[in-house]
Amino acid sequence: MVDLSIRIGKLWLRNPTMLASGILGDKASLLERAYRAGAGAVVTKSFTREPREGYVTPIIVGVPCGFINAVGLANPGKDGLRSILEKIKGKFPVIVSIAGATAEEFVELAIIAEEHGARGVELNLSCPHAEKRGLEIGADPRTVEKIVSEVKSVVRIPVFVKLGISDNMIESCVRAENAGADGLVLINTIKAMKIDIWIKKPILSNKFGGLSGPAIHPIAVRTIYEAYEQVDIPIIGVGGIISWEDAVEFLLAGASAVQLGSAIAWKGYGIFKEIIDGIKYYLKANGFSSVNDIIGLAHN
Ligand SMILES: Cc1cc2nc3c(=O)[nH]c(=O)nc-3n(C[C@H](O)[C@H](O)[C@H](O)COP(=O)(O)O)c2cc1C
Repeated sequence: MVDLSIRIGKLWLRNPTMLASGILGDKASLLERAYRAGAGAVVTKSFTREPREGYVTPIIVGVPCGFINAVGLANPGKDGLRSILEKIKGKFPVIVSIAGATAEEFVELAIIAEEHGARGVELNLSCPHAEKRGLEIGADPRTVEKIVSEVKSVVRIPVFVKLGISDNMIESCVRAENAGADGLVLINTIKAMKIDIWIKKPILSNKFGGLSGPAIHPIAVRTIYEAYEQVDIPIIGVGGIISWEDAVEFLLAGASAVQLGSAIAWKGYGIFKEIIDGIKYYLKANGFSSVNDIIGLAHN
């Protein structure tokens, strides 16, 4: 028997896999399906205070090693957030992802999430295609610190901070920790573009989007490894996992849990079981009794 359960701050999970934000939209039934498929927890898509329609199509394009998307944070706003959480009624662990332009917006949404049974909030400070509501915030360590400390002062559920690639990324990780964050979520998609050579224009209506999938996995591994050496709070790894070996690599680099995103488009919900079984197999084959035994082992 190997133990797959993990604890991230006050959050206990039956195993270290989670559904990544945005992948299955904002339907309670789809989030529940991911949980039933084996996920230890699910993360909602990012909610903003006011509803957002997002960008016009095309909003996603496939590239050889992943996808580039520019959904534009489409979501039904705070009323939609209340209604999805009322449907879930705390039946399974849901972490609510929230996005905004000001600390006040994050605070208001975090309070709604807590009041309606969310087990944690994930502050999306890293969307590469949402003007003033994404990477600009995460790339400014002082703003990261302000938002995190204001949210921490109003909720008791764990607060996770999702960051993306920027020159200040490690400083932002450290500031988030100083402000009381319970964990980091690394990484979001990376700003990218695809051009249709016959039309001679960018394919996405927003021109730029965020690259996800296997193309970003080695970048995520490097980021998790570097952050693990600078902070003591748990790290949740996300970016390009499509096999259990990819997930184990994140754990060895220092992640306490992993999130699955684009892989669901390729492999369906069965990816959760595939990864959980693979981690179990790896632990047994190497003589470990708990998944906690391998977190950060690549640093030894
Ligand atoms: C279609 C799509 C929508 C996404 N929406 C969100 C979102 O609302 N909030 C967020 O923090 N990340 C969002 N992401 C980023 C993912 O949560 C994840 O960080 C990223 O896709 C990298 O993981 P992956 O390579 O496993 O997909 C989205 C990704 C995709 C592909």
